[in-house]
Amino acid sequence: MSKTDQSMMERREQNIPSSIVSQNPLFIEESQGSLIKDTQGGTFIDFASGIGVNNVGSCHPAVVKAVQMQAEKCIHACFHVMMYESYIELAEKLNALVPISGHVKTMLANSGAEAVENAVKIARCYTKKRAVICFDNAFHGRTMLTMTMTSKIRPNKMHTGAWAPGIFRVHFPYCFRCPWNLAMPSCNMHCGRDYFENYVFKYQVDPEETAAIILEPVQGEGGFIPVPPGYLAQLRELCDKYNIVLIYDEIQSGFGRSGKMFASEHFMPEEGRGESAEPDMPEEGRGESAEPDIMVMAKSLGGGMPISAVTGRARMMDSVPAGGLGGTYGGNPVACAAALAVISLFESEDLLGKARRMGDIISVRLKAMEERFDFIGDVRGLGAMLALELVKDGISPDGKRAGEFVKLCREKGLIILACGTFKNNIRLLPPLTIGTDTLEEGLTIMEEAFSQI
Ligand SMILES: Cc1ncc(COP(=O)(O)O)c(C=O)c1O
Repeated sequence: MSKTDQSMMERREQNIPSSIVSQNPLFIEESQGSLIKDTQGGTFIDFASGIGVNNVGSCHPAVVKAVQMQAEKCIHACFHVMMYESYIELAEKLNALVPISGHVKTMLANSGAEAVENAVKIARCYTKKRAVICFDNAFHGRTMLTMTMTSKIRPNKMHTGAWAPGIFRVHFPYCFRCPWNLAMPSCNMHCGRDYFENYVFKYQVDPEETAAIILEPVQGEGGFIPVPPGYLAQLRELCDKYNIVLIYDEIQSGFGRSGKMFASEHFMPEEGRGESAEPDMPEEGRGESAEPDIMVMAKSLGGGMPISAVTGRARMMDSVPAGGLGGTYGGNPVACAAALAVISLFESEDLLGKARRMGDIISVRLKAMEERFDFIGDVRGLGAMLALELVKDGISPDGKRAGEFVKLCREKGLIILACGTFKNNIRLLPPLTIGTDTLEEGLTIMEEAFSQI
């Protein structure tokens, strides 16, 4: 480490709490597209994207331009004080993008956790019920409510409870580690309707008292675990039956990561909007849909600017009394400009097509690694949202090996992240704009690193 970096490290240690961890002992000089330069002259391939934020790449020129232009006109106004068109335009775009039929509305906030908090608030106001069902392995944020809904105890939750009341945790359909030790397809998706009707709603919480079920269609921090096909439709059916608001947290899985705009669209009919296209169609009319009622988005929405969104059925969004939603910075004009630029890029640069092609390349290479190294227990995900689970003795989580792998990759010029309760999953989050050569180079570094740990 250079003297300057050493001194920055000392200043960091002196002035910033140790609980705010930095996974790599490096300082960024600049990052462009899918490459990061550090202050010591090193260049790294970015398979982390600032934890799934830079889907359009770091400092995309269109995002930079939009931010610069808006910053010159108005950096902050507060939508509660005076309105501006970009908030409205972004709401219109998100309303059109989410796979929710009928009349939908959007509110903007700053972070993922804030969006989740608001989604729960809206569900409670709409249903006049209190309980919220969340899942094992979930990550929804670090505020007190979202931390309650987040699953991992150590280090995330240690010593910081008591937790928010009314939150009930149930098993997630984690097929590689099925909580019932069953296997698809003979399990008949026991984790779906059966489990809820015969266990969750009998022993955990009554559906008449349940305001919302919230889940990530592909769990992010939990280890890139997709729900099995048909599962979301079963939750939809239960939510229709008991007037429960179904919330999808697409904060990590959204904005093209899975090869569709939202991961949940993989589990919906081709047109992505369920059977009902009528405005405000009554619950019973939604048919075999897997639509949510509310979707929360953040991370890649802003191309690096802090912005999040809650988009949901208008009658639910409007159920909160005037003044009940919002905040000083929510939907800041500069962040809105960045988000609008990000959404345009999906069309102009065919980012969904790129994500699908990238997913194909990564999946072939990861499958080959799985064949070669017996400590890779599972390769899974959707589209370009792919991860490897490292194990010992065929099944026990091997977080130690994953930690060594991440360190070795860094030494070889690749920034990559581990995740999961046991930190034994290696997840890939390269920008969707990454060139094929750079992608392949990163994958080759991974393979070399696996052969050396
Ligand atoms: C699925 C999911 N929900 C919520 C959050 C919280 O977002 P933020 O860190 O912006 O509060 C995250 C962050 O990783 C996430 O992955």
